[in-house]
Amino acid sequence: MTQTYVALNDGNKIPQFGLGVFMVPAGGQTETAVYNALKLGIRHIDTAHAYQNERSVGKAINKAMREGIVKGDDVWVTSKLWPSEYGEGKTAAAIDKMLERLNIGYIDLLLLHQQFGDYKGAWKDMERAVKAGKVRSIGISNFESANLEDLMNAAAIKPSVLQVECHPYWQQTELKKRIAPYGTVIESWYPLGHGAKDLINEEIFTRLGQKYRKSNVQIILRWHIQEGNIVFPKTVNPQHMKENFNIFDFELTDDEMNEIRKLDGTKRYYNVSLEDQIKTLGAWKPAD
Ligand SMILES: NC(=O)c1ccc[n+]([C@@H]2O[C@H](COP(=O)([O-])OP(=O)(O)OC[C@H]3O[C@@H](n4cnc5c(N)ncnc54)[C@H](OP(=O)(O)O)[C@@H]3O)[C@@H](O)[C@H]2O)c1
Repeated sequence: MTQTYVALNDGNKIPQFGLGVFMVPAGGQTETAVYNALKLGIRHIDTAHAYQNERSVGKAINKAMREGIVKGDDVWVTSKLWPSEYGEGKTAAAIDKMLERLNIGYIDLLLLHQQFGDYKGAWKDMERAVKAGKVRSIGISNFESANLEDLMNAAAIKPSVLQVECHPYWQQTELKKRIAPYGTVIESWYPLGHGAKDLINEEIFTRLGQKYRKSNVQIILRWHIQEGNIVFPKTVNPQHMKENFNIFDFELTDDEMNEIRKLDGTKRYYNVSLEDQIKTLGAWKPAD
């Protein structure tokens, strides 16, 4: 079985599995992780301006292109704008700066990272960037309040994805119903609960791991894939990376999927209130 793709509401096809580089330091660590991922055959990288490592992502992709490991633009790159970059005119300039930092000539998927600030002004510039051919798909992240419908109503191009915390303990069932009318799909952040041992060591994942001769993490990632979620676990460990990507040669049964669905609602790991999220926005500094 080969890796799977998800058809987005704008007609583009995104590799369903990728590598996330949140909290991976810029420089050698990000470059090595991205380069290793591309060598393995992973064709999707999830970064953000706020992660401060876009230049390193671009450097690794350019190296892989020069070495013939990847061709042209067959690597899907997602990045995200921070609220301080939101606003008509301001967002257009921020997109040009992002293109310069990435230095690969394109952005496949550009997200609004957070649901605060002038997100409607930003969206207008993002739509213009699609029309100008600078960005292929646009989407949102962390929109879980009524701001979600507010943006959906204002948007001429409906968001292709909504990136939120999503894993077997917090499956986003209600949110999926809210975005279904727009054809928007879920991208799971914290797909492994940010590496949480309680989630990874759940009895059902151990049991199914023994049945399929897979690790608990592989069972969780396979569950995401069969749920239709787009997933990009973070790892800097080459063995983990190989393991995480090796999930396309087995299939969980409907009964097993349903059993995992029963874990829904156990907990979410990121529990910062909206008020506190707004307070932390000012603490962020743009990359060079
Ligand atoms: N939009 C947002 O606001 C937002 C927020 C958070 C995350 N994200 C995105 O989602 C991505 C994933 O989230 P995340 O990095 O926070 O959490 P995660 O992918 O759920 O978990 C990452 C942790 O799991 C460990 N891990 C990975 N593979 C493993 C394996 N096979 N066995 C055991 N441990 C394993 C990693 O350690 P090792 O490195 O040692 O393998 C790391 O500590 C991010 O990188 C980012 O792209 C987006």
